[in-house]
Amino acid sequence: MARVVISSALPIDVRPWLGDADVVAPSCGSLSRDALLAAVEDADALICLLTDRIDEELCARAPRLRIVANHAVGLDNVDVQACTRHGKLVTNTPGVLTEATADLTMALILSVARRVTEGDRLVRSGGWRGWDPGLLLGAAVSGQVLGIIGLGRIGRAVARRARGFEMRILCAGRSRAPEDLEQSLGATRVPLPQLLAESDFVSVHCPLTRETRGMLGEHELSLMKRTAFLINTARGACVDEDALARALEKGTIAGAGLDVFADEPRVPERLIAQPRAVLLPHVGSATSQARARMAELCATAVASVLRGERPVHLVNPEAWSSGDWR
Ligand code: GLV
Repeated sequence: MARVVISSALPIDVRPWLGDADVVAPSCGSLSRDALLAAVEDADALICLLTDRIDEELCARAPRLRIVANHAVGLDNVDVQACTRHGKLVTNTPGVLTEATADLTMALILSVARRVTEGDRLVRSGGWRGWDPGLLLGAAVSGQVLGIIGLGRIGRAVARRARGFEMRILCAGRSRAPEDLEQSLGATRVPLPQLLAESDFVSVHCPLTRETRGMLGEHELSLMKRTAFLINTARGACVDEDALARALEKGTIAGAGLDVFADEPRVPERLIAQPRAVLLPHVGSATSQARARMAELCATAVASVLRGERPVHLVNPEAWSSGDWR
């Protein structure tokens, strides 16, 4: 009987997709690193989270493992090359969390600009003294310039929403949408320094890779307008958090909306101390619908591989062609 390890309790029960497989999963919370390493020793399939490190050590401990189904679109937690070397297929969950993450990006844009969380704190603290024409003046969103770094699926979904706010859209980054698509989104491709200098909101939507780690550092942040906001719903490590904290402290940018951090769940005290930063606990895809679809995609990928079929959203086709996964 095939053994499927799920590293964490998922919001939906995926057993119906897994037939008669023996499913090993915690009833709540997540397996520790050591428990995960022990569990994969005799596993045929693994469904893991973005918080699990899938590396050489894990691959070496899991001789029977045929598939790593990552319950995320980002793959920065998975050493795909190591998986390929060890003959393990890797899948992710693109598409199903695009709209949820784009919605949250807009929520952060609106929150930082219109000081939503500051207003909420004021009301709850009992400190609100009544309507005041100067109270919590924020920044306009409609008609402003939005700079999107990474016009992939999520970046494009953000651009579609921003058009409803009549924003002018600039884009930069490696993932290059076909020109007609950029045109239909009303997005103008510019070099990154120009995007940083002209945008009222800079929103990060690229994957975390060797190239994008620390991509927005001291110099890049210094190019932004004093009135501009940085939004990050991608990966925390794309931004140098010390440099961001300094920019917020010195007021060289107006604020930041962050759903992701470099060393989660640790959030730098200097960011917590910033009233103009809105900080969320990595909930970009956290709608019941998106999370259910993510779990379903992982389970159906595992079921395909256990039947000997190629899974959808396979990210290392070379591992499939080599046949070593069998
Ligand atoms: C979430 O951050 C994901 O990569 O799916």
